[in-house]
Formats: sequence, C-alpha cells, structure tokens
Amino acid sequence: MDPTEARDPSPGRLLVSAGQIAVRIGELAAEIDAAYAGIDAPVVLLCVLKGSLFFTADLARALTIPLEIDAIAVRSYGAGTEPSGTVQLLKDVTTPLGGRHVLMVEDVIDTGLTTSFLHEHVARHRPASLRLVALLDKPGRRRREVRIDFRGFVLGGDFVVGYGLDLDERFRNLPGVHALDPG
Ligand code: PRP
Repeated sequence: MDPTEARDPSPGRLLVSAGQIAVRIGELAAEIDAAYAGIDAPVVLLCVLKGSLFFTADLARALTIPLEIDAIAVRSYGAGTEPSGTVQLLKDVTTPLGGRHVLMVEDVIDTGLTTSFLHEHVARHRPASLRLVALLDKPGRRRREVRIDFRGFVLGGDFVVGYGLDLDERFRNLPGVHALDPG
C-alpha cells in the first residue's frame, strides 16, 4: 500500500508547505546563530510539547551554536478549537536553568496565554537570558502581549493543524500547515 494513503487526509487548504517551512527554518537558524554568536555555554532549546516537537527537531539540526534540548509540556486547549483560558503544566523541565541562556521553541503563538505562563515559570529559574522563537504567529488573536524574538510566519485567525499542531490530537503528522475547514 502507498504509505501516504495511511496518513490522515488534509483537513483543509494548505497555508504553509513543508518546503516553505524548511526554507524559513534555515533563515531562522541563521538569525539565531548570529544572535548567540560567541556565547560561553550551550543554549538550552526548550521544546514546548507537544506542538513544537517537529519544529524543535528541525530547528536544532539547522543551528550551529552549541545547544542542549529540554522539554516542557503544557496544555491550554481542551477539546475543540478554542483555548480553555487556563494553562496547565503537565511536565516540567529537568535541566537546571539558573544562569543558562534559554530559547523557548513554540509552534504557534495564538492568544499568548501559554507563552505568558511559560515566561513567568521559566523566569523563576533566573536564566541568564530568555528568548522565544515561534514558527507561526497569529497576532490578531492575542489576549496577552508577547515578545517574539524570532518569528517564522504571520498568519490570520484560522485554526491551523499540521507540522505538530493538532485538533484533538489528530493531524500533527501532516508535513505542512493547513487551515481547518469550518465545520
Ligand atoms: C498550543 C501551541 C502553543 C499554544 C499556543 O498548545 O502548541 O503551545 O497552544 O496558544 P496560546 O497562544 O493561545 O496560548 P496546546 O495547548 O494545544 O498543546 P499541544 O502543544 O500539546 O497541542
């Protein structure tokens, strides 16, 4: 059987292709390499699970600066397409972050609630620096102001899936980012 037949079908129109993502990640990696050039200790890439799994994996391999990888898991969406309004910490970091250069890796910034929560949470560790890279930004949906240091693509308000993003845990494995069809 053709293995692509086993994959979930595309739920809606393609907004960002796998090729466009790969090119943009190369550009982001160059920006990040330059921003951290000459640092004296490895940067800690903090993967925000689960959505940032693929982005973190691809970005990490495009970077040339010394780095370590840790992960933190939070949940802001319940079932469906609207955020619950509260952020739950499901899994904390294991790396001591005090005095470290931390780069949070997010797949998407939507309301900004998750990032605000994580920023406060990580800042309590007193890192040497704390920056944010986000592949996708939906500025029109913001409820909390968020500083994004490195940004991949700006999108409208569509609910998007693919390349790590889900609807009720489905569609994370689509190689590109798709808008969900209404209904
Ligand atoms: C998604 C996404 C971001 C967050 C962004 O995670 O991965 O972490 O929502 O939304 P916000 O800006 O409105 O807070 P989600 O809570 O769906 O968990 P997941 O990554 O495990 O899918």
